[in-house]
Amino acid sequence: LPIRLADYRPPAWRVERVELVFELGIDATEVAAKLLLRRDPAQDAPLRLDGENLELLAIALDGQPLPGTAYRPVEGSLEVDGVRDGSVLETRVRVHPAANTALEGLYLSGPHGTGFLLTQCEAQGFRHITYFPDRPDVQASYTVTLCADRARFPVLLAGGNPDGAGELEDGRHWARFVDPHPKPSYLFALVAGQLEKIERDYRNADGRDVQLKIWAEADAIERCHYAMDALERSMRWDEQVYGRNYDLDVFHVVATHDFNMGAMENKGLNIFNAKCLLADPDSSTDDEYRRVEAVIAHEYFHNWSGNRVTCRDWFQLSLKEGFTVFREQSFSADMNSAPLKRIEDVALLRRAQFPEDAGPLAHPVRPAEYREINNFYTATVYEKGAELVRMLAGRLGKEGFRRGTDLYFARNDGRAATIEDFLAALGEANGIDLTPYLAWYGQAGTPRLQAHGAYDAGRREYTLTLRQHTPPDQRQAHKQPLPIPVKLALFGADGRMLPLHMDGQTADGETERVVVLDRAEQRFVFRDVAERPVPSLLRGFSAPVILECDYTPTELALLLGHDPDGFNRWEAGQQLALRAYDALRDGTGPEAVAAWCDALAALFDDGNLDDALLADLLTPPGEIELAERESAVDPARIHALRQQLQQRLAARIGPAALDARYRALAARTTAALDAASQARRRLKQGVLQLLALLDPAQACGHAAAQYRDAPGMTDRLGALAVLARHDALRSAEPLAHFRTRYANDPLALDKWFALQAQLPGEAALARVQALEADPAFTLKNPNRARALLGSYASGNPTGFHRPDGAGYRLYAERLLALDALNPQIAARLATAFNGWQRLEPQRREAARAALAGLAAHDKLSRNLVEIVGNMLKS
Ligand code: ARG
Ligand code: ZN
Repeated sequence: LPIRLADYRPPAWRVERVELVFELGIDATEVAAKLLLRRDPAQDAPLRLDGENLELLAIALDGQPLPGTAYRPVEGSLEVDGVRDGSVLETRVRVHPAANTALEGLYLSGPHGTGFLLTQCEAQGFRHITYFPDRPDVQASYTVTLCADRARFPVLLAGGNPDGAGELEDGRHWARFVDPHPKPSYLFALVAGQLEKIERDYRNADGRDVQLKIWAEADAIERCHYAMDALERSMRWDEQVYGRNYDLDVFHVVATHDFNMGAMENKGLNIFNAKCLLADPDSSTDDEYRRVEAVIAHEYFHNWSGNRVTCRDWFQLSLKEGFTVFREQSFSADMNSAPLKRIEDVALLRRAQFPEDAGPLAHPVRPAEYREINNFYTATVYEKGAELVRMLAGRLGKEGFRRGTDLYFARNDGRAATIEDFLAALGEANGIDLTPYLAWYGQAGTPRLQAHGAYDAGRREYTLTLRQHTPPDQRQAHKQPLPIPVKLALFGADGRMLPLHMDGQTADGETERVVVLDRAEQRFVFRDVAERPVPSLLRGFSAPVILECDYTPTELALLLGHDPDGFNRWEAGQQLALRAYDALRDGTGPEAVAAWCDALAALFDDGNLDDALLADLLTPPGEIELAERESAVDPARIHALRQQLQQRLAARIGPAALDARYRALAARTTAALDAASQARRRLKQGVLQLLALLDPAQACGHAAAQYRDAPGMTDRLGALAVLARHDALRSAEPLAHFRTRYANDPLALDKWFALQAQLPGEAALARVQALEADPAFTLKNPNRARALLGSYASGNPTGFHRPDGAGYRLYAERLLALDALNPQIAARLATAFNGWQRLEPQRREAARAALAGLAAHDKLSRNLVEIVGNMLKS
């Protein structure tokens, strides 16, 4: 049965204090827990603790061992009789870390003989460690003592401040940690094993001295320096921008290669997928550097948006995730380029969240129900959630938003809060009622925003009509109108912005403003408009909607050439590309293709344009985005058309110009990480890819040299991708070379698997099967499974969506095998089937059959059952 938001009840029992003692072992670990319990006087329910796969060794209440009749296990929980307010319950359980392949709770990372122990508790992993009310609104003070063999586990870490350590007999030792801040169980963490560290002393703005320590295995520790710098930048930024200071004496960060997600914000002991922490030029790309910086910031920012103020229940997940993603995005924008960051984030939203919102897995940012909460760590909760916070921040302005977040943190510090609490604080701090925005949190689907402009030359008036409509889905036939802030400007034919005058507003000559559409349809009239304007709408992507506007190609070209809003400039290019794509597909004449190609060819020669922005402009919308606009999707056709479009552009720019630009950029290649160097690398790759579509031999010649001379991973991997795609024969040697060179670097090997899994064409299936036979392939490591299988199904439309359905069948088989090991990863990878209902009939039937075959198995995990079940509904 699903769990429903509407059924929320406060906990009948809380834990005020918990003392945990771990006797750590790889195969078996014993956990002694002592809970000081508090009863809610308003409720009369027996004590029921969560617990799964726990071997109960002992249980005592208020110092007395309990007879077997006084407690009983009932489906994933333990009921105990005779408990009073203030009672102390002691349990002792055994768990089996090495056998834990789900990587939830306490588990082993790495080989049995040398690996280390760690935990992952969010959302409900703590119940795999001990009996406890495992819900975020139960906040307790933790004292944790770790005991283990000193030689095997020299490093012992838990959240909180260190509170003593010492020797035990038989070569064992202990270490204790006390967390002064009450926290929910999902933020508990421990790490134990052979790890190296780097450290840095940090002084908070409020004067507290903090030791920052990053831990990794010996072969990785030297790749943690960039993360340390990023951590320091994040801490300073949160002090300056949000007034948030860190609140413990130590801050630990640990890297593991075995992790279900990107990273986890456990209080005082963040744990990272190595992929999101390690960085060095030889094995990390520029994108990965930026990702490390962003994830370090994200987890650190959670210390306030998540930990000090946590979520009342898991329906409120976006309260911490949406807000923290927004904070992370703002930080990255400040550290790098704001317009490029915005382009990257919106492209991700369109690629990952819009399809989710339009398919069978659609759910509101605050879901109303779930069966398995781990399935709701989605693009909707994270990325759309961040867009909602961005709208609120935009509504309040920089200072108003800061007033609002100050009040939110002050009022909810130490509490388990709700989305309503967030909106109330932001609103009250500014005397503004933000409750209309709550509707965004409760309604799935991407609104369509239609814009139509009419100019009355006689009255010098421009009327902008805005309409909104959100398509219905199975759960909600009629969607309500939402408040949609539309940031806009009007352009004259010379490419300059016109002053905006609206009724009841003083004519202060402002050239940009925000209008809010909060009904199904509304008209906005601008006065004193000297000429028929070209509107620049939804600037900076001011709301997560799909804009439909009847622009002519000339109007789009004007915005592309002149809009100072970098995002909208790129967006005009994307819209122009979509028109060109449609014209190519429908055979409606060469004008639209020429308009796009001409505009970009002009920008190609414009020396003032940022290299990275040019690279983004040269890239038309991706295959997933193109598929979203169709009702009978043929991925092979989309791929071919998109490639034709790129070929046209390449031909328009010309092989000589492409070659010359490539050479010029290549001549300036270094390993430097500054923005300009990264931008040059990005453009160089874009140019090389275009050249490869015109003159593969020439491009592959460049790529072979680039692979050989690459000063870092960005150039090396980029060259390899071009070679592998355009010259299978010539790429065999560098692919083998890469495999050998990085044989001991799992993160680099993941890139090697992913690159090959994404080579387009039906032969990808056989390639994936061959790669499965590589000794380095294993389903047990989530990064590796994602690199090969995830990249294939989600990053290779022509390879996965074979008309014969063989891709689907192979994938379904692997999901089944994976589900037996790691349900979270199986369920996540299964979402690659999203959108199957809109495939053309042959593929649709094949995908349906594969999904139905999966669903027919008994013993599927709850995770996979929910995803596959939802996928097949309707
Ligand atoms: N809270 C973590 C983060 O966003 C992610 C945890 C994901 N947990 C999960 N069960 N999928 O930083
Ligand atoms: Zn997060």
